[in-house]
Amino acid sequence: MTLLQTKPSFVPLTIAPELSPTLPSWVYHDPDVLDLERERVFGRNWVFVAHASEVAPGQPFHGEVNDEPVILTRKVDGSLTATASNPASESLALRAETLAGLVFVNMDPQAAGLAAQAPDLEASIRGFVPEADALVKCHKVVHEVASNWKVFVENSLECYHCEPCHPGFSTDVDMETYRSFSDGIVTIHTSQRQQTPEMAGKGPAEADLVEKFMYWYVWPSTEIDATPGDHPQLSIYTRKAVGPHRHQVTGHYYRLPGDGLSSAEKQALDEDATVREDIAICEAVQRGLASRGYSQGRFIVDAERSHISEHSVHHFQCMVSDALDLR
Ligand SMILES: [Fe+2]
Repeated sequence: MTLLQTKPSFVPLTIAPELSPTLPSWVYHDPDVLDLERERVFGRNWVFVAHASEVAPGQPFHGEVNDEPVILTRKVDGSLTATASNPASESLALRAETLAGLVFVNMDPQAAGLAAQAPDLEASIRGFVPEADALVKCHKVVHEVASNWKVFVENSLECYHCEPCHPGFSTDVDMETYRSFSDGIVTIHTSQRQQTPEMAGKGPAEADLVEKFMYWYVWPSTEIDATPGDHPQLSIYTRKAVGPHRHQVTGHYYRLPGDGLSSAEKQALDEDATVREDIAICEAVQRGLASRGYSQGRFIVDAERSHISEHSVHHFQCMVSDALDLR
């Protein structure tokens, strides 16, 4: 019996986003859905676990793929291996791929490789942060969110909410130049930044990078934010579903050795205003999804005004539909 046969009826998503309904609301609060996602979404796809610099020879790294513990180990020849640690059985070898210094793990031995599924991602990240391999961990923050994990992913895949909800972000970024593109497992968000006095002294090539806001979403639960320039930084956000109505967002921050964050900068990340604004929105959306009066909605789609369009949310929901066999 499939999930479809046991749940309230709904209209399946269509390929064309402007004609498609959204996912039905029960997908965001049904425990059976989360069980299926653990198997088919987190269990079959590539999830960021650590930066390669966090795995030293003789010092295994203990991480997670969603809520399943995994161990990264570096051998004497420098190669990196991943194992699932299950107390009830012997450790199971998992697949690991390192891309621009970032180690992703896939629990499915049959899955296509990460680089094969996202052929442009590594060069794209290196284009913004050529120092990606040399970075080391400088901070980590865990946020608790009272919403389904998909609500927050969807929040990060559209910027319709940015101007009303993120006054700081909208001042930093030129929203008229905001663009979002999805291709398979990767969605790119890019925008020009508003001009600042620091940009005035940069050469054309460097200024072009510094002036851009660049953000990659990698299905299902990894987001990468690149900060180029004099203090290169990669900020990786992972999402861990701990229940149908609750998940954790972890921010992993990496900078060059000797260029760590000050205590004030760490405190700013701990209290990240944009993240807190998003958490408040997502928790309100989760409450709305629980309403008996709501089942499915529509997407706002406007190719000419990408910053207020939800086409990337539709792309994500189609991937969820395919994974859960909701077509
Ligand atoms: Fe947001």
